[in-house]
Amino acid sequence: MLMLAGCHRLPPSKPLSELTPTEMRGYTVYRQQCAQCHNANSEQPLHGPGLQGLYKKPYLPSGAPANDDRVRAAIADGRNMMPGFANALNDRQMRDLLAYLHTL
Ligand code: HEC
Repeated sequence: MLMLAGCHRLPPSKPLSELTPTEMRGYTVYRQQCAQCHNANSEQPLHGPGLQGLYKKPYLPSGAPANDDRVRAAIADGRNMMPGFANALNDRQMRDLLAYLHTL
């Protein structure tokens, strides 16, 4: 019998080639604002936690539920060493970014 205890497997991220226009705009925001601190393609931390499978797990790294309200708040307000982006992103950029994060 195969023992996989403690080993969690996430469904794969949506390939970039299949992103919708909204998700693609979010990817652009991500590359400009987030990629220097967060891996999108793995759970390995960079400066902050890796974000692969962000919405596929029940909890964010902080332990908050993985939902749009909490993710939006983390991005807008920042957390500890993460700066807040409330002034850097407009509503549409925030929506596009969340749509992209859902593909991870
Ligand atoms: C300067 C580095 C830096 C940048 C830029 C940055 N982050 Fe973070 N991020 C962090 C760190 C560090 C943490 C861990 C904060 C903590 O809980 O102590 C974090 C945490 C998070 C979390 C988890 C929040 C939670 O509740 O666990 C999310 C989601 C996140 N960042 C998304 C983003 C997104 C999306 C962007 C782009 C808009 C971004 N971050 C930009 C450093 C950064």
